[in-house]
Amino acid sequence: MNNKSFNRIIIISNRLPFKIINTNGEKKLIQNSGGLVSAILSLSEKKNDYINDSSGKIIWIGNSDYTREDFKEVDNQSNDFDIYPVQIDKQVYEKYYEGFCNDTLWPLFHYFTTYAVYDEAYYENYTIANQLFFLELEKIIQPNDFVWVHDYQLCLLPKLIRNKFPEANIGFFLHIPFPSYEIFRLLRRKWREEILNGILGADLVGFHTYDYTQHFLQSVRRLLGYETTLRYIYTEDRIIKVETFPIGIDFEKFENASKSPDVQKEIHKLQNTLGEKKLIFSVDRLDYTKGILDKLKGVKYFLRTYPEWHKKVIFNMVVVPSRDTIPRYANMKKELESIVGQINGKYSNLDWRPIAYQYKSLEFNEMIALYSYSHIGLITPLRDGMNLVAKEYIASQKHNQGVLIISELAGAVTELGEAIIINPTDSKEVGEAIYRALEMDQKEIEIKNKRMKIRLKNYDVFAWTNDFIEQLFLLKKDLKGMQVKILNNIVEEDLINHYKVANKRLFLFDYDGTLVPFSKYPENAIPSNDLIEQLSTLSINSKNLIAIVSGRDRTFLEKYFGNSNLILIGEHGAFHKFPHKDWIGQAEKNDDWKIKIRELLERYTNRCNGSIIEEKEVSLAWHYRNSEIEFTSVRYQELKEELSEFLNYDHSLQTLEGNKVIEIKKIGYDKGTIVQKLFLDSEQFDFIMAIGDDKTDEDLFKVMPKDSYTIKVGMTVSIAKYNLKAQSNVIDLIKKLNTI
Ligand code: UDP
Ligand code: G6P
Repeated sequence: MNNKSFNRIIIISNRLPFKIINTNGEKKLIQNSGGLVSAILSLSEKKNDYINDSSGKIIWIGNSDYTREDFKEVDNQSNDFDIYPVQIDKQVYEKYYEGFCNDTLWPLFHYFTTYAVYDEAYYENYTIANQLFFLELEKIIQPNDFVWVHDYQLCLLPKLIRNKFPEANIGFFLHIPFPSYEIFRLLRRKWREEILNGILGADLVGFHTYDYTQHFLQSVRRLLGYETTLRYIYTEDRIIKVETFPIGIDFEKFENASKSPDVQKEIHKLQNTLGEKKLIFSVDRLDYTKGILDKLKGVKYFLRTYPEWHKKVIFNMVVVPSRDTIPRYANMKKELESIVGQINGKYSNLDWRPIAYQYKSLEFNEMIALYSYSHIGLITPLRDGMNLVAKEYIASQKHNQGVLIISELAGAVTELGEAIIINPTDSKEVGEAIYRALEMDQKEIEIKNKRMKIRLKNYDVFAWTNDFIEQLFLLKKDLKGMQVKILNNIVEEDLINHYKVANKRLFLFDYDGTLVPFSKYPENAIPSNDLIEQLSTLSINSKNLIAIVSGRDRTFLEKYFGNSNLILIGEHGAFHKFPHKDWIGQAEKNDDWKIKIRELLERYTNRCNGSIIEEKEVSLAWHYRNSEIEFTSVRYQELKEELSEFLNYDHSLQTLEGNKVIEIKKIGYDKGTIVQKLFLDSEQFDFIMAIGDDKTDEDLFKVMPKDSYTIKVGMTVSIAKYNLKAQSNVIDLIKKLNTI
């Protein structure tokens, strides 16, 4: 596909790719650290593949104390980004960044639940900061731009954009784990709902792994009550796609760099310093999620257990400064340094110190030399969204001789299965892994590294970006036909004109919510005399064939429409009857499944006051129209989860969700299949109208020929062509047709 489908790319993240350093009055631009920046920076190289505006730069909106003019001043022409800094007042920034972002969301999303601080002022300032990013975007956004919002600092932003620019192309990518529902719900009700709804302002939402994606979908289902499928979320008026995109690296850049003369120079330096000693390397941002203390415990175990390796290995531990204004980080740094001191104190002698600890950022060439030269890359996070360092380590293996040891709790592990995989909390396992790696056969290392390289090369950061942008483009195309479109006067006039000239017409009416309004109890929703009269008038016309396509059982339909000229279809297609003929269709002989499902439904009926079970011939339905909505909507989500687990084992059953009702029945028929079989397969019509209000009617709309009038009652997304605002409009429409 040609991705040049969007005008410009606008990246929005809290962290800009560069910061300005002012030394003695001279301003310099230097790169910021962290996985997000590393990955997105690579975009600049291939920007022309993605955007129409080839002369333009990628726009990047992010936080900085400096102005746009400052950035322009120090721009050395080498960067391809047009930077729009968002200046945030110090007090707001502290509560937003150090507070809600890194003292609430960061620990919680990384499963450090006891570290999470819940503070109203933090959240308030998080909303203010998100608003400030929006205000900057608002100034520059143009039609057909692609706005790509990144990470947990800006969860509220997609919705702010959507509210003001309903047509905008918005992507959201989360670079950290999305935790399981049980963890996410620890956030206060208002915050968690606003965060989910905020993210759902995007068209496409991306996560690193399948698990994070599923966790997000589950939270949306259970906390917001929206229907979801494997990849889609259906809100009242929009469809959002949720997909897994494991972020890649610029593979070639790392591979080529490892062969470059500058890196070779660095490698020689290392060789001269280390001689025969083996190097065990790690580089982590200062963060408790990185498991640096656990790594040290593993190192301790190794030194204690394998004295024969003393003086033969050096652990080079680089810790990159990060968030050290936050007390927890500052304290961790102190603790870390004290443990390094203890280990070195215990094992060092005049000519050997086991740990070479550095608290600094690395120059690119220096880092590649360390990746490439070291015998082991030791990566031990307790939780990490992805971990790019692991991927970069493999890509930089010039001779494929380095062994990667990686924690099973890093997202990257799903693509790096050939590495030695450890649980970082088990110091014995870490220590033994170091030993195994040192003793590993060179041939085996080479084979494994080559395999991992192929995978990383195939899905590099460009493939990742391409994938994301392409999915968004396709989604926008597919959704064009799925917006709410009111059946206005112009459409109505067209429909009436079409009706007038047609000779063979088919009408398909759903019953509850379409022909009659909902009532507290299903048995009370009976047809009015007016409705019966109108349907009768319509059916007298010999050009018209009229069917009620309903979930109701045949006893009910027979009672009210048995003597009419209407075709009756009951229980979603299990039974049908032509005027003045007998019913066709048989109840299931073996309905043992009902026993278990009834037990399950009874449990929920006991918990939700006012809900009732309706038993039909071929299905069981659970109605919750009369229950307290807030409480029941949570229970309803639980019931759906339980049913879907049940249905995983029994593939002969399916659920149908109606309006405040869920039905369980045997698979094999629905409103669409029965209508196809009875009418569409055998007859030609020159006017077809199908009207319905709930999800079971979508099956009907799906099978309708292209030129049919498919109409959804209510203002929700549907594959029907048109929406009618209310149930009463259906009768008005029938009345109009009857006057012709
Ligand atoms: N990195 C950096 N400066 C350094 C050391 C590392 O910019 O001094 C980069 C490294 O190359 C990698 C990123 O920082 O691309 C770290 O990403 P990762 O996903 O491993 O962890 P994160 O920082 O996102 O938690
Ligand atoms: C992780 C986050 C990024 C963040 C980076 C560095 O990679 O996912 O959003 O930018 O860490 O953290 P910092 O707080 O310095 O931006």
